[in-house]
Parts: sequence; structure tokens; C-alpha cells
Amino acid sequence: MSGFTVAIDGPAAAGKGTVSKAVAAHFGFAHLDTGLLYRAVGAKVLAGMEAAQAARALVPDDLLGDGLRGPDVAQAASKVAVIPEVRAALLDFQRSFAARAAGAVLDGRDIGTVICPDAAVKLFVTASAEVRARRRWAELSGRGMAETYGQVLADVRERDARDMERAAAPLCAAPDAVVIDTSELSIAQAASRELEAVQRAR
Ligand code: CDP
Repeated sequence: MSGFTVAIDGPAAAGKGTVSKAVAAHFGFAHLDTGLLYRAVGAKVLAGMEAAQAARALVPDDLLGDGLRGPDVAQAASKVAVIPEVRAALLDFQRSFAARAAGAVLDGRDIGTVICPDAAVKLFVTASAEVRARRRWAELSGRGMAETYGQVLADVRERDARDMERAAAPLCAAPDAVVIDTSELSIAQAASRELEAVQRAR
């Protein structure tokens, strides 16, 4: 039996992870950060593996650890994410996760458009590139990474362009998604908008 699925998409560093976790915790749903799948494949490619092969060989342990959070891996992730064979290899895992009877929240770029087009709720979380870069920069500095704000902004813009312009599952809001612009919102305000949207669909 398929459960209640919440699809959360949006551009780089829009805060999807934080609000997805809040929604999952509130409703007792499982949460999958699908960006981690692409990051794990990107990390394997940086280590010398072929991308499609790396995607097919992925195991849950590959998603653990802080090593996937850095900007080099993010760039590598967005490069492997344009390859249709990589996306195809990751499809079944995401769909099975989404079908959990207890309910699931998946966040990424193509959840509402490709992975779960029948999701009960679709949210598209966004913010200006500058706001997103400022948040990501604060997060990376907090973990001791040396990137400047300018470097983080350039990374965010480059990945956004690659994610939106690719032919396979480009980043875009599903026509039936609720769009939430968090540029002027705190994390708590963004999370409460999302909780309301999910609540309305329950
Ligand atoms: O955390 P952040 O928003 O910076 O990125 P992420 O969600 O971890 O995703 C890293 C990269 O994986 C993105 O730039 C996309 O290219 C790719 N991705 C994707 O193509 N499809 C998804 N469902 C999730 C991520």
C-alpha cells in the first residue's frame, strides 16, 4: 500500500533539508534527502569511478558522513545529475522510499515532476540566490570550511543554471506545486508555511 508522499523541490541551498526534516518529524514520516544520492555518486566520481556504474553500485552506507556536504562534492553531484543513466539508476530506490506506508517526505529537484508526480502535496521552496548563498556560507563556515561568500554565490548560481538547463528532469516547479519563497522568512516561518500546506492536503 502506498503512503502519503510529500514532494519538496527547489534550487540549491533553499533550505529544503531543514524544512523537510521539520515536516517529517511533525507528521512522523520518513525523510529522504535525494541530493545525497547525487552527492554520493559525485564523490565516487571524484574518487575515480565511472558515474553510471557508481550510481548502480550505491549502497545506503554511502550516504553517511559529513564528507558529502562540501562544495566540491556539490559541483560533482550537479555534473553527474545531468546523465540520464545516473538518474535512471536512482529512480527505483526513490520511488520505493516514497511508497512507504507510514508516509514519506522526499526533497530534491525533480520529486514533484518525475519521481512522484502523484504526490499528495508538492512544495517548491525557493529564495533569491543571494539569500541562499548567505545561508549556505554560514552553514559551511560553521563547519570550518574556508569558502568565501562570493565563492558560495558563484557555486549556487552555477549549479542552478546546470540544474535548470539540463534535458533530463530539469529543476522546475510542478504545475500543481505550492511555491514558497523563503527570502524574507526565518526557518521557523518557512517550516510553518510548509506544515500548513501539508496539513491542508491531509
Ligand atoms: O543542498 P543543496 O540544495 O545545495 O544540494 P543537494 O540537494 O544536495 O543536491 C546536489 C545536486 O544534486 C544538485 O545541484 C542537483 O544537480 C542534484 N540533484 C538532482 O539532480 N536531483 C535531485 N532530486 C536532487 C539533487
